Amino acid sequence: MATSPHHDKEEVPLAVWPVAQTSAQYQRKDRYLAASTAHPAKMVPALARRIVEAYSAPGQLVVDPMCGIGTTLVEGAELGRRCLGVEVEERWADLARDNLDHILSPERRALGEVRVGDARQLPTLLADEAGSVDLVATSPPYACEVGTIDKAAWLAGRSLCDRASLNYSANQANLGHARDETYLAQMSEVYEACHAVLRPGGLLVTVTKNLRRRARCFDLAAATVALARQVGFAYHQHVIALLCAVRGSELVARPSFWQLTQTRKARARGLPAHLVAHEDVLVFTKGDDARG
Ligand SMILES: C[S@@+](CC[C@H](N)C(=O)[O-])C[C@H]1O[C@@H](n2cnc3c(N)ncnc32)[C@H](O)[C@@H]1O
Repeated sequence: MATSPHHDKEEVPLAVWPVAQTSAQYQRKDRYLAASTAHPAKMVPALARRIVEAYSAPGQLVVDPMCGIGTTLVEGAELGRRCLGVEVEERWADLARDNLDHILSPERRALGEVRVGDARQLPTLLADEAGSVDLVATSPPYACEVGTIDKAAWLAGRSLCDRASLNYSANQANLGHARDETYLAQMSEVYEACHAVLRPGGLLVTVTKNLRRRARCFDLAAATVALARQVGFAYHQHVIALLCAVRGSELVARPSFWQLTQTRKARARGLPAHLVAHEDVLVFTKGDDARG
């Protein structure tokens, strides 16, 4: 069996999920409102769906503490899970509610709810449900610049992203602005809050992506594993979410315009960079205290 090499002493089972057999745009077409395009870092719907299906059962409570446009909630509620999302930005919280309204039957819509707030305050925000959550499924900001791509502006010689769209918003409480040690400290608070709201035996599934920063690789997956273990989670499984299509014996990459631009710039500087074609799905359990 393949294993994930995140630790010297301990390895966990590794799985690979192809979640981009069709493009993210195609997966969202008609299921999500067109306004969702403005959010700069959405999860691929097939990935959210697979996480919910693999790690929860119908009727269970799924929480996404950084829910963005509500992908986890839409897919989870459609699969018959009770889904509660938290999002710090009113704008994205409203859009998440609109997305739930857009596609779900009234019966399924009643399963989804969005609250505005800071993920670090999860036990307070979920006061009525704290300690009974079955699955926390989320994707945090990745400690790197994200923004809504404006290709036309870029081709006309202006910047690729409008400044107002950088890091989700200008709100400094948004962890999209955090970098380096500040990022790790703030995400540690988020994972501690997730641990507090889960029931014993509940699962945390968090999706990250490794980055290149200042010409070096930042292994966000390994850093996240360390953070989650420090707050008491046990590391259970590493899944590679393949963001390319499998076509016979070939992988067809589906890079964003942003990724293509960044990779081309790196190669122009002489760095042997390739497109990153996967995200890391990290699965943890709240069991006996695994700290240490
Ligand atoms: C990677 S995106 C998640 C996208 C989401 N999975 C989706 O498909 O739309 C991270 C989200 O975390 C939100 N966020 C950042 N800081 C937060 C905080 N302190 N509390 C709650 N949400 C936060 C951002 O506004 C952003 O929408």
